[in-house]
Order: sequence, then structure tokens, then C-alpha cells
Amino acid sequence: MNVEERNYLVLDKIIERYGDRPGGLIRVLYKAQELFGYLSRDVQTHVAEKMCLPVGHVHGVATFYSQFVTAPQGKNVVRVCMGTACYVKNAQDILNRFRELLGVEPDETTADGLFTLRTTRCIGACSLAPLLTVNESVHGHLSVYDVARLVDRYRKEGPDEEVSPVEHKRQRPARDQRAAPPPN
Ligand code: FES
Repeated sequence: MNVEERNYLVLDKIIERYGDRPGGLIRVLYKAQELFGYLSRDVQTHVAEKMCLPVGHVHGVATFYSQFVTAPQGKNVVRVCMGTACYVKNAQDILNRFRELLGVEPDETTADGLFTLRTTRCIGACSLAPLLTVNESVHGHLSVYDVARLVDRYRKEGPDEEVSPVEHKRQRPARDQRAAPPPN
């Protein structure tokens, strides 16, 4: 049995367990994304069939919530916060600098597969504005001049093995600031 087949088996168990519960689809999609890395058309169709739902409904949920991704992502996912507190502190300039350095637009992945650039709404850590996340790490109080350093660092080091408790401009998000499943 290959990895993909094993993932589908695990997913089916999750569907059996949570499929009928309130908010079950969201939970199933989270697990599917965790297993497969993103919610491909095949995975969405599989979930729809197993849960006896229209594919369009599953696709609608998968594309509505920003936490779900429906295309392969780069090794490092950069999310620049464009919420109000970050926006008024030049988040757009930071985003533009990433676009310039990486040569991609938001929701695109670099050709080498190292970076996916995204934007996000407020993640609830406005005191660190302007901020962005790279994978699970939060980088706050940024200026446009920090962008090249960050790109360089993740290009060389790759994703953080574990989030360390902060250098000057980097903080681990409180548990409740991490991406959480949306309410049912
Ligand atoms: S607006 Fe960026 S964290 Fe709140």
C-alpha cells in the first residue's frame, strides 16, 4: 500500500467518526489537508462521495475558508497580514517587496517550490503590526527592509523545525492565535 492509499484509509476513518457530527465536513477537510498537503479535486470528490454530499458543496467550503488550500503549496508559506492595523503600518509595501523579490503574486508559488505568497486577514496579534507568518512562525514589527533578510533566511534554512521563543522580531503565536478551525 502506498502513502496515498494509506492517507485515504486514514481519511475514511475520520469521515466515519466525524462525518455525521455538526461541523463534520470542516473537520474532515482539515484532516484531509493535513494528510495530503492540500485539497485537490480528487480529495474533494472523495470526501463528497463518502459523505454523500454534492461535490460543489465540498468545493464551496474548501474555497470559502482561507485556511484551506486547493493547490500545492511551496515549502514555506508566507502570509502577509493585510488587516487594518497592519495595513496602516505599510503592510502593502511589505507585500510588494515579497512580490518583487520572489517574482510571484499572492496565491502563487515560486518556480523552485520554496515559497508560496499569500495574504491573510487579521490574525489577532495587532500589537505586533505589521506582521506576517512564515509557516507557523510569526514575524512582527517588520519593515520593508526586513523582507530580503527573511527570504534569505528561509531560502537557506527551510521551514523552522520548531518555533523558538523569539529573537527581537519574532514571536511564537499564542495557541489561540494560531490558525483555528472556523466555527461550525
Ligand atoms: S491587523 Fe494584522 S494582526 Fe491584526
